[in-house]
Amino acid sequence: MLTKVHTGLDPVPGIWWRPAHKAEKIWVAIAFGWCMVLFAMMPLWHYRGGQNPSGVRRRVVPSAYYARTLAFAKQYKVGEDQGIPIVEPPPGAEVYLVGLTFQWYPILKLQRGKEYMLHLSSLDVNHGFSLFPVNVNFQVVPGYDYGLRVTPTASGDFRIICNEFCGIGHHAMVGRVIVVDEAGQPVADNARARIRSGGAP
Ligand code: CUA
Repeated sequence: MLTKVHTGLDPVPGIWWRPAHKAEKIWVAIAFGWCMVLFAMMPLWHYRGGQNPSGVRRRVVPSAYYARTLAFAKQYKVGEDQGIPIVEPPPGAEVYLVGLTFQWYPILKLQRGKEYMLHLSSLDVNHGFSLFPVNVNFQVVPGYDYGLRVTPTASGDFRIICNEFCGIGHHAMVGRVIVVDEAGQPVADNARARIRSGGAP
């Protein structure tokens, strides 16, 4: 014997047209009020929270951005790690970093406490810039040059992890940012940063 399947063509039997219980109305009011609080937090956090970076986003031709990055890497190259140049621009410089399947190019060497204009873009698909173990995340989008004023506050040897699935080599897309202090030491602060982040490897 077949049980009757509810198709939605017949009205559902029930009591939905009766007024809601008082407790339900109170909960709807609380939920609505909370939604409004969260809604207000978005602009509030933008102006008072200090978490949203005010970056400059400009359109760019991916191949032109890539050429600019190669020229930048050549100009300030100080070393190499597994074929990828280690680049040390002077403080205040325009710094270029490109994401491409599946690497971050080049390796940046920056000084702690100095300001740089960091440009992020992609040569091919969307990538995600995640600075580990610090909580810093940005979208890296082809066709857009995202300029950020950055001042490294901790020295160390940091990893850039791709946090946007970009293909078969996504998990291997790891880059490096080295931040040195005045004495050129990248070690001490990084150890502290790792402890703060919960001692991840
Ligand atoms: Cu690049 Cu995932």
